[in-house]
Amino acid sequence: MSNQSQYLLKPSQVATLLGMLGLLALAAPSALADDGQALATKNQCMTCHKIEGKQVGPAYKDVAAKYKGDPDAPDKLAAKVRTGGKGVWGQVPMPPNKKISDDDLRTVVNWILSQGS
Ligand code: HEC
Repeated sequence: MSNQSQYLLKPSQVATLLGMLGLLALAAPSALADDGQALATKNQCMTCHKIEGKQVGPAYKDVAAKYKGDPDAPDKLAAKVRTGGKGVWGQVPMPPNKKISDDDLRTVVNWILSQGS
């Protein structure tokens, strides 16, 4: 009778196992890629842009290719998205995007520039 319990985990061991599972869940990578895309979707960027293929605005892959190796691109593009404008990709203007926060804008622009690489 008494040696039946030797195969069961003690409460303290169960707690340790659960704790490890919790840590694993926390450590699961929340990739920048997912954040960027989620923020772009949330801020309506994807109504005019696709990752691949021109829509109203240029494909993000084309944007990434155009500014590849340009160290000023993150600042330039963040400012452009904020104020809007036209003439780089055609005569259709991008309207100003006032609502997106600076942090989110930075994340989205970095995500755009990482497309195709
Ligand atoms: C109403 C449609 C529309 C929306 C919404 C929109 N864009 Fe654009 N976007 C455009 C157009 C059109 C252009 C091309 C502008 C040009 O030719 O200079 C453009 C250009 C860009 C460029 C390249 C700029 C350049 O000078 O090369 C980036 C980067 C960009 N958009 C990011 C975004 C982000 C990020 C958002 C969301 C916060 C967004 N866009 C929302 C239409 C849109």
